[in-house]
Amino acid sequence: MEINFVRVSQKKFKGKPNMGAYEKVYPNFKWEDVHDEVEWFDGGKLNQAYNTIDKHRNTWRKNKVALYWEGDDGSTKKFTFLEMSNLSNKFANVLKSNGIKKGDRIFIFLSRIPENYISFLGILKMGGIAGTMFAAFGPEAVKDRLLDSDAVAVVTDVKLKPRIDQVRKDLPSLKHVFVVGGKDLKKESGELSFDEELAKASRDFEVEKMNPDDVAFMQYTSGSTGKPKGVMHTHGGMAQQHITAKWVLDLKDEDIYWCTSDPGWITGIIYTILGAWSNGVSQLIFDGRFDPDRWYSLIEKYQVNVWYTAPTALRMLMSSGEDVPKKYNMKSLRHICSVGEPLNPEPIRWAHKVFGLWVHDTWWQTETGSMLICNYPKMDMKVGYMGKPFPGITASIRDENGNEVKPGVEGDLCLQPGWPSMFNGVWKNEEKYKSYLKNGWYVTGDKAKMDPDGYFIYVGRGDDVIKTAGERVGPFEIESVLIEHPAVAEAGVIGKPDPEGIRGEIIKAFLVLRKGHTPSKELEDDIRKFIKTRLAGHMYPKEIEFRDTLPRTQSGKIMRRVLKAQELGLPTGDLSTIEK
Ligand code: WTA
Repeated sequence: MEINFVRVSQKKFKGKPNMGAYEKVYPNFKWEDVHDEVEWFDGGKLNQAYNTIDKHRNTWRKNKVALYWEGDDGSTKKFTFLEMSNLSNKFANVLKSNGIKKGDRIFIFLSRIPENYISFLGILKMGGIAGTMFAAFGPEAVKDRLLDSDAVAVVTDVKLKPRIDQVRKDLPSLKHVFVVGGKDLKKESGELSFDEELAKASRDFEVEKMNPDDVAFMQYTSGSTGKPKGVMHTHGGMAQQHITAKWVLDLKDEDIYWCTSDPGWITGIIYTILGAWSNGVSQLIFDGRFDPDRWYSLIEKYQVNVWYTAPTALRMLMSSGEDVPKKYNMKSLRHICSVGEPLNPEPIRWAHKVFGLWVHDTWWQTETGSMLICNYPKMDMKVGYMGKPFPGITASIRDENGNEVKPGVEGDLCLQPGWPSMFNGVWKNEEKYKSYLKNGWYVTGDKAKMDPDGYFIYVGRGDDVIKTAGERVGPFEIESVLIEHPAVAEAGVIGKPDPEGIRGEIIKAFLVLRKGHTPSKELEDDIRKFIKTRLAGHMYPKEIEFRDTLPRTQSGKIMRRVLKAQELGLPTGDLSTIEK
């Protein structure tokens, strides 16, 4: 495959990039150099929400549009920086007047409506810890997060509230439920109308001055084992989030920017809310479903200049044919970036044909808090490579003993810890946090290679984590729900390459049935529905295979590695620990 990878000269990059030539910037860069990109309060304190929105209200950007919003039904709204600042001040006041304190966990369970962004900022302003939940989550996924975090409040809307109601009895810490559009609410159960509360609240609020290592938000994410874990991010991550958006996304004041990610995932938090607005950019947020015509028409309608999306979306656009984009004028686009899963050369070449631009791949993780390995406007790109480490970041490919391997050799992608946006803990799970660090390096869980020119290429996950349509899914979470189905006795879940070549991986479940149940198409469909309604649509197993037994270790753990190797026709490796 590697012979396909070509080097692309960046001489034709449109406009003057914010970042200088990579070769010059990288060797001399120190994090102190970007300290002043952030506005600090006395005593080394700061607040991410202040830096994202409020700092602009005292400048010419006050009346600049921060958010162009469009819903699935075509309705539109827009908010200036001043309006976003006032509304989030109001919500910060609402939280405080309801007795919610600094350090309390407040979760958001909303689709990409403006209230989602307003709530997030309001929480950070009063020093609360925000948590986001993808609107497609079912009651089980919602419960796991609210329970583990001991959340005291949640912001939701009329449509999504029933999923919280279903699990409310299991959530003793949850005192307040703010409901957007809510009427006739049960006050005795702590249900409050978001809109009425906001209308009553003052728009003046003095933001809480936080220490750089104070937690601002947490993002639940999946690993190989156990339920999703709360990855904690600090206010101090701001400088890096700001500078990566400025240099990699190349955001400029005159830009209209569109990031297609949802704030339920890390990209939606860092590169819609934090890094994008801290750069003062006007952005489009589309709260609707994927549809090629609609997406292209949004680029045309809003004259989008910078677009941050994902490989699956690009592949879906590609598969919808070349005639669809021809209907629209997308000349406004000047820069496209991608994240979340491997970006293979094919969609890059397709996008170059359709948009006349090379898609710039960026690599990072929930835990890293911002982009770490990227392609830059002034660095020649190798198509199919993730790029090179961001200034201030040292990346290295290491073997299982922690020794650096030679260029071209596959190993663990490791990073030298200590970059500003690095997570500073896992909620109530110090052991998990420590497990990421080995021999003084942060071990990402990804397998990769570095070529002799210092470009990194992705090989695959080193663990059982699944990446489907760019979303990170833990097999354990799905297995736990599968075995709650009345017909299922045992379950093993893996990711396998999508036979259609669109979604990266698809989820496959191997199931052993309980006595008295026999495999059937109806049972398969029922099991899929069971997952969709409890966890989320993207977490259902597209393929199901019934087996008499599953490979287990002598201690009883299901060997997903063996299931995967069998599925892919690869050697199963060491089976000495398998149960005979
Ligand atoms: C994968 C998303 C290949 C990788 C921001 C990583 C990628 C995981 C890329 C993190 C890329 C992310 N090329 N793989 N450019 N970007 N990944 O936490 O396996 O949802 O470890 O963060 O996505 O996923 P997460």
